[in-house]
This record gives sequence, C-alpha cells and structure tokens, in this order.
Amino acid sequence: MTGIRLTAPAPGWAIDADVVVVGSGVAGLTTALRCAAAGLATVVVTKARLDDGSTRWAQGGIAAALGEGDTPEQHLDDTLVAGAGLCDETAVRALVTEGPGAVRRLIDTGARFDTTEAGAIALTREGGHHRRRIAHAGGDATGAEISRALVDAVRAAALRTIENALVLDLLQDAEGRTAGVTLHVMGEGQHDGVGAVRAPAVVLATGGMGQVFAATTNPPVSTGDGVALALRAGAEVSDLEFVQFHPTVLFLGADSEGQQPLVSEAVRGEGAHLVDASGTRFMLGQHELAELAPRDIVAKAITRQMHLTGTEHMYLDARHFGAGMWERRFPTILAACRAHGIDPVTEPIPVAPAAHYASGGVRTDLRGRTTVPGLYACGETACTGVHGANRLASNSLLEGLVFAERIAADVVASGPRERTPADAAPA
Ligand code: SIN
Repeated sequence: MTGIRLTAPAPGWAIDADVVVVGSGVAGLTTALRCAAAGLATVVVTKARLDDGSTRWAQGGIAAALGEGDTPEQHLDDTLVAGAGLCDETAVRALVTEGPGAVRRLIDTGARFDTTEAGAIALTREGGHHRRRIAHAGGDATGAEISRALVDAVRAAALRTIENALVLDLLQDAEGRTAGVTLHVMGEGQHDGVGAVRAPAVVLATGGMGQVFAATTNPPVSTGDGVALALRAGAEVSDLEFVQFHPTVLFLGADSEGQQPLVSEAVRGEGAHLVDASGTRFMLGQHELAELAPRDIVAKAITRQMHLTGTEHMYLDARHFGAGMWERRFPTILAACRAHGIDPVTEPIPVAPAAHYASGGVRTDLRGRTTVPGLYACGETACTGVHGANRLASNSLLEGLVFAERIAADVVASGPRERTPADAAPA
C-alpha cells in the first residue's frame, strides 16, 4: 500500500535556537538544563504542561549502585540478565558507571530523596535486582519529586518553554540534516497555531507509547509521537517489539481502558506476596527470586496463573505491612487503592499486567545520536541498547539522566548555530 502523507500548513511563526528539546520528562529537562547551562539557546516544547509526562507517574524509584557494598558491576550483571541477552553491554556499562554521579547531580539540581535515620539515601529492592539499589522520594512518589525539581530548575533558569505544543515534523535541509521542528501550539499567545523552531539539533524525549494498548500505566500523552516523527524523517528504530508489561497494575475490570493505577514493584521489594484466589503463592518455585524475579517472568507467571485458574486477575497481599508502613512508605498507592474501594491494609489488592514501557525506540549511539544528522533521542523514546528485551526495574529514570548528559555534551561540542543578523536584534 502506498503511504499517504498529509502536508501540514506552512508555519505562521518561527523562532531560532541552538537546540530544541521535544518533551519535558527527566530526559528532556535534564538535556535542556545541561545545554542551557553551557550557554546554548535552548527551547523546550511539550505536548501538554511541563509536568504532564510519564516521569511524574514513576513510583518505585531510580536504580544506581549507591549502597554500601554495591558496585556498578553488580548493577551491570542484573541489567544484562533482565535484558535476556539482548542488551548492548557497552551502553549498559555507561549507564551503571555514570549512574551514581548522575543521581548525585540530580540531587544538586534540587531533587530530595528519602533518607535513612543515619542520613544516607534510603534504598529499596525491585524485580531482578539482587541488592537494595532503588532510591525513592516521598515513599512512592519518586517521579513526582524528580519532575518538581527539574521543572523548578527550568523555571529558575528562565528556559524558553512552549507548552501545549504538538510537534508535527522534523525540518531537514537539502542534505537531510536536522534544521528544527514544525509544531502546532494551542493557546500560547504569540506562538499560537502552526509554527517552527529552527535549530541544528533536535532532541526527541517524548516518552513512550503505552496508549497504543487498551490498558496501560502511561498517561494520556504517551502516544509514541517521537518514534513516529523519527520514522517520518527517515531515522532507524529498533526493538519496538519489546513492550514491557508491568506485572502489578490495579485491576479495575476487564474492560477498563486507558491509564490504570500502578502498584509499584517496590511493594514486592518490601515483602508483599503474589497470591491467587485460593491464597497460593504461585511465584515460589518458579524463580530463585520468587516475586522479585525480572518483570517479564512475573508478568508471564501471573498471566499463566490467570489462565490456569480461570480468573481475570491475581492478588498482591501486603496486609502484613500494617497501616503505618502503608501510610509512610506507599501513600500514593494506598490513596489510589482506597479511591477505588480497596483497602490494602485489610485486603489483598487485585492486580493484572498492563502495558508499561517501550524498551525499544529510535536507535541511537552512545551519544544519543540517531541515524539522521543532528537528531537525537533520549529516554523512553530512544533505543540505546541498555534495556535489551526487558528493562530492569527503575533503570529508565537513570537512562534518562545519564544519556541526557551524554547528549548535552555532544550538542555542546557541536557548538551554537551560525548567528544571523536577526540574532543581534532586540527580542
Ligand atoms: C515500579 O515502581 O514498579 C515501576 C518502576 C519501573 O517501571 O521501573
């Protein structure tokens, strides 16, 4: 079938920048902050509000070898095992060795992580990790805290941001080099309607594509825009078949669609059990880590048990946490369950797998460069090779941070765009 290509209206306005970042999660805002700090004229465009992306919804945390006795090498081993032999080991090595420093720089940016009584960063466990390695904030509101800190930093740095901006296409010069993006903005005053941000570097950080599936943990904005734009521009994509299903998503009915409440893997990390309707812990004997096996193994085991028992969901039992621990450690999940009439303090939580994370995406090298010159991809939009066939829990926020810094370094090394007389004119 011949593809039909719709032509967008000609841009009614244009602005110039050294780099335009599309998306405002951890990957996009970290890239933008680093580029701006190096003196590049940086514009962030985002489809809804700055904090409407997936980052805000992340619960469990961010994985890094920060604990006593932990090492990047052990984090590497767990990542490679979870990735089922399909990770790019060089990319994983960059992730795990640069990860602890990247988390510390995020703390310097203003993110406040939970700490132990002794003042160290509190670490939890999640599936596939052989150690406590997951830093968290607000108990189970890690993404919300990271998003808050980055948005505050963007505002403090007075970065140029354009919200409610749907990116339409990549602008390319006659040689196919990136020249900016066209976008459709709704209600931004002087930048209303179809316009263009012209820049020699474009960073796609538009998040995932969970909304392609009926039930997902992703927010409504996660519609795969970056991958679609990159494909239209001729960029290579890879591993798109590796869509990760999160094992424990609050079950709201078989026909419940769209974004569903996540029940973080950290709940299992702190000792919750998966049971079927008869109370049997079906993960025992299936994997040495039982409920904390890598995510694909747990999701498949749940689905198998649902088929075997003819049921639509399994249960996550954490009644033994007691009210105090639920309130202190998992306030977001507790509130979400109670909002749906389930009290995890007194009853097991009905859970089933749902689409959660795109492990593949726009193929990049170790500097985040796609196959289109000047076009970068970062975070869930990208396929750096760190996730292989199955992302290790809580490696995604870390990937966003580490590769954002790598991309910013590359963009900065390329230097600012050629200045024109318009650059000298007063704004
Ligand atoms: C979770 O909290 O279970 C999700 C963490 C992740 O997707 O890495």
